[in-house]
Amino acid sequence: MLSSLNRLTASLARFRRLGFAHLPTPLEPMKQLTAHLRGPRLWVKREDCTGVGLGGNKLRKLDYVLHEAITSGADTLVSGGVVQSNSQRQVAAAAAKLGLACHLAVYHGRLAPPSDDYEKTGNALLNRLFGATLHDVPWNGDRNGAIRDLADRLRAESRRPYVVPYGVSSPLGAVAYASTVAEIAAQSAAAGIKPAAIVHCTGSGATQAGLVVGAHACLPQTRVVGIDIDAEPERVHADVATFAKGAADLLQQPFDPADVEVVGGHAGPAYGVPHAATIDAMKLGARLEALVLDPVYSGKGLAGLIALIEAGRWRKDQDVVFLHTGGAPALFAYRHLFD
Ligand SMILES: Cc1ncc(COP(=O)(O)O)c(C=O)c1O
Repeated sequence: MLSSLNRLTASLARFRRLGFAHLPTPLEPMKQLTAHLRGPRLWVKREDCTGVGLGGNKLRKLDYVLHEAITSGADTLVSGGVVQSNSQRQVAAAAAKLGLACHLAVYHGRLAPPSDDYEKTGNALLNRLFGATLHDVPWNGDRNGAIRDLADRLRAESRRPYVVPYGVSSPLGAVAYASTVAEIAAQSAAAGIKPAAIVHCTGSGATQAGLVVGAHACLPQTRVVGIDIDAEPERVHADVATFAKGAADLLQQPFDPADVEVVGGHAGPAYGVPHAATIDAMKLGARLEALVLDPVYSGKGLAGLIALIEAGRWRKDQDVVFLHTGGAPALFAYRHLFD
């Protein structure tokens, strides 16, 4: 009889990947942070180490999603995000690697630039370095509208664009993230642990959606806990549920809406605006585990995990995995916070 992990792996094998992301990513113990916090045994799943163009969680999604772009004969990737979006930087890097053109709708106005460096350094610099063409557009709350408009314009110019949605969040992007749980299941079995939880920051939703479907399939005792970094936990919850349902249907796996847990209260004042707990978490992660976290996503994720540990959510004899989703390039746009 097939084990639940083998069944999930077989479901995932029906989806083709390009194979450019560096997978599986490592699962490492965080002994010093565990000792410091005096809570459960902490582990880190290094989704910041997916390779191409400085890595991050979107590369795993793109490894699956862009297979469709290549087979559809696209010559151009079109996507978008805020100035320091890690997602669009990873799309730009993937386009460079695959020999495709890349056009990005760069949203201005979702947050006030926190520094003079914001528009030029970090991910903004890398987008240019990877050769992407940047189109400045005002943020109006519609994450995908300007991306679709840009694709229409390129189509009218006889290009063959492939639209990568905001955050690479789609049912297929979520399918990709179910593969992370298959890796964690194999790695935790090898390490002799049964994680009580996987904790990570959540925004456009497909990362958490895939984790939820994957955990239901092969790690049913592991709770997936998303830390909202958009300061919109209800919207995030709804999007995670939608993508999880879509991914579960594609994978022919069950989805239980009760598996979706989005924790609010750790996003600071707004998206892209770090607060003291974020900075403290980033310093702890760096000084105790040599992790490079960022002030918009992974730093807030670790701040949320620390708050849950301090509130006594897990026992000392339990194991908890922090999923490091990447984001380090944006750190350089916020360097003034560390002077
Ligand atoms: C570093 C980082 N972590 C987490 C996320 C959130 O992932 P998702 O959008 O799939 O919820 C993002 C998305 O942009 C990100 O860049």
